[in-house]
Amino acid sequence: MHRILIINGPNLNLLGTRERSVYGDTTLEAITSEAVRFGSSIGFEVEAFQSNSEGALIDAVHHAPSRFEGVVINPGAFTHYSIAVRDAIAAVAIPFVEVHLSNIHNREEFRRISVIAPVCAGQISGFGPFSYILGIEALRRLLDK
Ligand code: DQA
Repeated sequence: MHRILIINGPNLNLLGTRERSVYGDTTLEAITSEAVRFGSSIGFEVEAFQSNSEGALIDAVHHAPSRFEGVVINPGAFTHYSIAVRDAIAAVAIPFVEVHLSNIHNREEFRRISVIAPVCAGQISGFGPFSYILGIEALRRLLDK
């Protein structure tokens, strides 16, 4: 049984009501339940953590290897400028997969850069809530290799 963590960054707690034309109307709770359900169907134990604060996200990254074998992370806006989150991921030895609901490459110019992606195994962007399922599937391939 693989244990993995899903980390969600700022404003993702507002999914369901936040900018629905961009992010859809699925709540974070519903995304998490679906991820837990998919995880258990492939023998994964999935936990989820969300914070609006950079420090709390960094702490979650630091502590992840003691309990989890891999992480799916949606860093929210920190994707585009948090060298501190990037350095935290670079400092731990388990695989991370970066996910986004929206396709960050067809939005504003400032969203096209991810400072996080280079320290992740890969990036999945643009599939709505299904991005999280693809992220878990990517971790499965990595962990089973
Ligand atoms: C996001 C994309 C980011 O640019 C944005 O700041 C978010 C959500 C996404 O999942 O599409 O908060 O990470």
